[in-house]
Amino acid sequence: MENLKKTKLNVRVSDTGCVGMCYSEVLLDVHDKHGQVYTYGNMTPDRMPRFIDEHLGKGQPVADWLVRASDRALPDDSFYAKQKRIVLRNCGQMDPEKIEDYMAHGGYQALEKALKKMAQDEVIKEVLDSGLRGRGGAGFPTGRKWQFARGSKGDKKYIVCNGDEGDPGAFMDRSVLEGDPHNVMEGMLIAGYAIGADEGYFYVRAEYPLAVERIKMAIEQAKKKGFLGKNIMGTKFNFEMKIKEGAGAFVCGEETALMASIEGQRGMPRLRPPFPAVSGLWGKPTNINNVETFANVPWIILNGAAAFASLGTEKSKGSKVFALAGKIARGGLVEVPMGITINEIIHEVGGGIKDGRTFKAVQMGGPSGGCIPAALGNTIVDYDSVGQTGAIMGSGGMVVMDDTTCMVDIARFFLDFTQKESCGKCTFCRVGTKRMLEILQRITKGQGREGDIELLLELAEKIKISSLCGLGQTAPNPVLTTIKYFRQEYEAHIKDKQCPAHSCKELLKYEIVPEKCVGCTACARVCPVTSISGQVKKPHVIDQETCIKCGNCVTKCKFDAIKVR
Ligand SMILES: Cc1cc2nc3c(=O)[nH]c(=O)nc-3n(C[C@H](O)[C@H](O)[C@H](O)COP(=O)(O)O)c2cc1C
Ligand code: SF4
Ligand code: SF4
Ligand code: SF4
Ligand code: FES
Repeated sequence: MENLKKTKLNVRVSDTGCVGMCYSEVLLDVHDKHGQVYTYGNMTPDRMPRFIDEHLGKGQPVADWLVRASDRALPDDSFYAKQKRIVLRNCGQMDPEKIEDYMAHGGYQALEKALKKMAQDEVIKEVLDSGLRGRGGAGFPTGRKWQFARGSKGDKKYIVCNGDEGDPGAFMDRSVLEGDPHNVMEGMLIAGYAIGADEGYFYVRAEYPLAVERIKMAIEQAKKKGFLGKNIMGTKFNFEMKIKEGAGAFVCGEETALMASIEGQRGMPRLRPPFPAVSGLWGKPTNINNVETFANVPWIILNGAAAFASLGTEKSKGSKVFALAGKIARGGLVEVPMGITINEIIHEVGGGIKDGRTFKAVQMGGPSGGCIPAALGNTIVDYDSVGQTGAIMGSGGMVVMDDTTCMVDIARFFLDFTQKESCGKCTFCRVGTKRMLEILQRITKGQGREGDIELLLELAEKIKISSLCGLGQTAPNPVLTTIKYFRQEYEAHIKDKQCPAHSCKELLKYEIVPEKCVGCTACARVCPVTSISGQVKKPHVIDQETCIKCGNCVTKCKFDAIKVR
């Protein structure tokens, strides 16, 4: 900005939401007066003077730094080629802090259409016909849920937007809330009209301060424009919107715990029925949907159910947003049509595996999901096909793993997460996950015993059937899928005390190959615990007792003389 001010060029600078290319952040878009759009990647401060001089000053884009441009083909174009942006259509294209920008992109026209041209049942029918299913994980048909809430008797009804998003590796909802808050709010308003509610809550975790700030702004702006409050757009429809910041407990994403949290109680799940559609917030009928679910609604109302249903597979319509993370070359936020394969997402959209390594597995569905091995890479991305692998579609986290990832350790990581997040109400979830975690910890430390795999399987079954809420019912899934597809890795840890991926530190053994070692002493000088001994120009040796397996020596040896087993 400082550089720009000095030039006195006539440029409007604004923040936008996420365009998805996290892998080349910091990103900068130029929209020029001829209608061309240029995206620059990895923009560091030292690049600014040349960029300002050549592109803004002389109108010549700096070709070396472009990652996307409307007037030329670039290698990164394959990142977008297979995407279909419905939910993310405005993200990165407008200023999320300006309601005028949203309106210039067609914002609030769907609400107007619903309020003025459609009866409540027609709105519900449109959503039902579109085939939209809940994007929060379970995939329940959204229109059916709205029908239940509409059918419930009550003088007061609520709409709740679930923005709790706690899965490790997931940041879809956060990006949508930050990049296009009005779109989500418009979806909530339409849902409110459809079911007969007059109050809505955004439940957003407090760790998302920018999302919270932008929602607050969006609420204020919508009030001023008459899209919130009494007699919205001159109709009889009234609606108020509030925000509740969650403290960041994973279990508060479960809908009954979420409602307890809004009511100011401790966020613990309760038995269902009664379902929220019958008795929700303060005992009133309540409809809860995920951020992405609501974000689809304005598009569906404006473009029609058929347009949405034309995308995807028989039972999974539309598109799905995924957060690509882990060992992927182009990690970021993508939105793909349902029906695409996992391989297409990883190898074409995501550009393959980082550093040219091999694709081993992808973790889908977070702690409730599981690992899909590379051999099943042709699995179609829809609720049923993904479910058949033992993983779930989930809310959209995709953690990609390469050959250096230990699958036992991954199972341990996810179980560690669910174990810590268990609310403690059910014994099997509270104690059972702890016992499973202890076994996994032992195995990764080389202290696994014969029978551990069977014990894990037995505990997993018990926890699944004896838990009250989805957290416990699905917590064993990462363990079950890794045993199903990578059982030999468990066995190698337990029987041979080896980690095939060379990842579990305590099972590694660093050894110097005497024939290769020239005695340069480089390794000994970087060993933090002086475990390496030997004379100059003579082969060195590593003391296995004291080695802390830091790996320093391997990186230092220029003669490839240190082997890791
Ligand atoms: C432990 C647990 C955590 C959950 N976390 C979330 C979450 O972060 N966001 C979300 O939308 N749904 C989450 N869900 C699912 C919700 O309870 C609920 O099914 C969903 O918000 C319904 O919206 P949808 O039909 O639009 O998907 C979670 C469920 C469980 C059991
Ligand atoms: S399954 Fe776990 S998280 Fe869910 S209510 Fe029981 S103890 Fe709490
Ligand atoms: S792995 Fe680390 S501690 Fe072990 S010998 Fe090499 S440098 Fe020393
Ligand atoms: S750095 Fe390599 S070659 Fe040099 S002493 Fe160590 S093991 Fe031998
Ligand atoms: S580009 Fe990184 S979060 Fe969007």
